[in-house]
Amino acid sequence: MTKPILISGIQPTGRLHLGNYLGALKNFVGLQDSGKYQCYFFVADYHSLTEDFKPEEKSQQIESLIADFLAAGLDPKKSVIFLQSQVPQSTELAWILSAITPFGELSRMTQFKDKSAAQKENINAGLFTYPILMAADILLYDAQLVPVGSDQLQHLELARTLARKFNSRFGQIFVEPKALMTSTPRLMSLDDPSKKMSKSHPDGCLFIDDSPEEIERKIKVAVTDSGNEIKYDPKNKSGISNLLSIVAGLSGKSPEDVVRDFAGMNYGEFKHSVSDCVSDYFASFRKKKEALLKKPAALKKALQHGSEQAQKIAQKKLAEVKEKIGLII
Ligand code: ADP
Ligand code: TRP
Repeated sequence: MTKPILISGIQPTGRLHLGNYLGALKNFVGLQDSGKYQCYFFVADYHSLTEDFKPEEKSQQIESLIADFLAAGLDPKKSVIFLQSQVPQSTELAWILSAITPFGELSRMTQFKDKSAAQKENINAGLFTYPILMAADILLYDAQLVPVGSDQLQHLELARTLARKFNSRFGQIFVEPKALMTSTPRLMSLDDPSKKMSKSHPDGCLFIDDSPEEIERKIKVAVTDSGNEIKYDPKNKSGISNLLSIVAGLSGKSPEDVVRDFAGMNYGEFKHSVSDCVSDYFASFRKKKEALLKKPAALKKALQHGSEQAQKIAQKKLAEVKEKIGLII
């Protein structure tokens, strides 16, 4: 029996934070290891060009993300792991899909609005058409499931709309994908728990390769409230609840069970325990990542086979698409 296909990508735009891990990467590894799916995971390097970047830093950002993938447990023997720019069929399909994408749908994307506001000097067309490329990434592989955090739901909805639209106009060819979210689909910022933890606001991030000292320092100054009770109440105690979500996400326990573990502690003791929990959890990850980064050539090579595998599938699908719309192949 063929297994359901699952795909997701992450942009190489900076170091991964705990939100990326609990909302996406940790889930990628669990889904891969469950053996229930045929998994594709990729580094969305083309998407990352829409944000301000320095060419001399890009390859290092890509290598760092590949190392994150591998150190966290993604395994090229179990999943197809690849680099987006090495599968040019995705950008080709994006062009075809752009011809059926309503301008109005793109204009509504909150990520486009947020990113345009954050980089006023660089509101490029790619930032606007970004969700079409994401739809192409997904539809090329007939993926049924897409593990992502909640900020990507609007983009995924567009992928579903485009699949439906294409199928009804040109004939059944695309699968409508569904999002798969974790119990931590939106981890909040440490310095402002009303905002999502995001790479574009590094001050509020706990990076997964932070040293134990950095983790301790950042959690110590994390915004909480003036009370003294450890309680899971995201509405009224957003800072404390966010820290509880971190421990819950890492341990796999419910926030209520985590509250029980910390019963009777004051905020200082609680924060110290959360720091220990995060440091211990990522201890072996940090070591593995450090070792992997010492061999950049091997990192790139690790994805070569995956990119070839992905290309084979993408090529076949793109030919079918071209045929459906009357192009000569
Ligand atoms: P960022 O917004 O920090 O730049 P990305 O857009 O690269 O992060 O997101 C990579 C993955 O991590 C996506 O699946 C996204 O939904 C998820 N993600 C990002 N931020 C969070 C968060 N704060 N909580 C949970 N998941 C998140
Ligand atoms: N847009 C996603 C993000 O910013 C990255 C991405 C690109 C993606 N293509 C994708 C995620 C396809 C899932 C599926 O995080």
